[in-house]
Amino acid sequence: MGILDKHKFLERNATLLLVCSFAVVSIGGIVEIAPLFYLQNTIEKVEGMRPYSPLELAGRDVYIREGCYVCHSQMIRPMRDEVERYGHYSLAAESMYDHPFQWGSKRTGPDLARVGGRYSDEWHVDHLSDPQSVVPESVMPKYAFLADVQIDGRYIQDSLKTHRIVGVPYTDAMIENAEADFTVQVQPFGNWDDMVARYPKAQVRNFDGRPGISEMDALIAYLQMLGTLVDFSTFTPDASR
Ligand code: HEC
Repeated sequence: MGILDKHKFLERNATLLLVCSFAVVSIGGIVEIAPLFYLQNTIEKVEGMRPYSPLELAGRDVYIREGCYVCHSQMIRPMRDEVERYGHYSLAAESMYDHPFQWGSKRTGPDLARVGGRYSDEWHVDHLSDPQSVVPESVMPKYAFLADVQIDGRYIQDSLKTHRIVGVPYTDAMIENAEADFTVQVQPFGNWDDMVARYPKAQVRNFDGRPGISEMDALIAYLQMLGTLVDFSTFTPDASR
């Protein structure tokens, strides 16, 4: 029997064809999936990533509630034009404490993965309150009301606890001090050293320039943190694994 005859025989036997196709697909599947179970870690470890501070976490909640992700991604792809515009491409580890992650796929506005430190707090207050006052052709909606909504820090502890349930390594000390840490990041009247020790690189100041702790404070604290935790001047990708 030549190869063509063999194939004809196979094609005419529906059951045999099914069994053989299944065998081929299974081998392909196993080759692709099995190695994943033996990798130590699919997320490369990097220095600097830490859970979000209570204030940043509250800001992230505002970001999600207001649907900022509908127009903004947080995922710089490893392509030259993106890296030149936004900075170092995003690492998986930079999203490891995000539940849910904010990568997004729609960019009506620019990517925000590294927006931290790019603008002043005042710029953010002006821009969020009335984007067209800063960028006349902007289609971004106005979020001025965020400055008028105060956040009750009593609920922030529950938020940290919830994130711990889904795997964010908040320590007992972080949860115990959640409300105090939340307050001191905006109103640094007391001692904020402990808070910064728990959340290295946390920025401590009155973000919206007004008394009280508003959703504007929290959102700007979150934006100013984005992309600043990993130090890319010393980071080298570990390609050996
Ligand atoms: C309807 C789409 C849309 C929504 C929703 C939106 N934005 Fe924007 N955003 C834009 C556009 C377009 C720009 C570019 C023009 C500008 O700077 O206003 C922009 C710019 C920005 C910038 C400046 C980025 C840079 O690198 O220059 C920041 C920061 C920002 N948006 C934050 C937010 C936040 C926070 C929210 C949610 C509260 C939000 N945006 C919601 C469309 C949107």
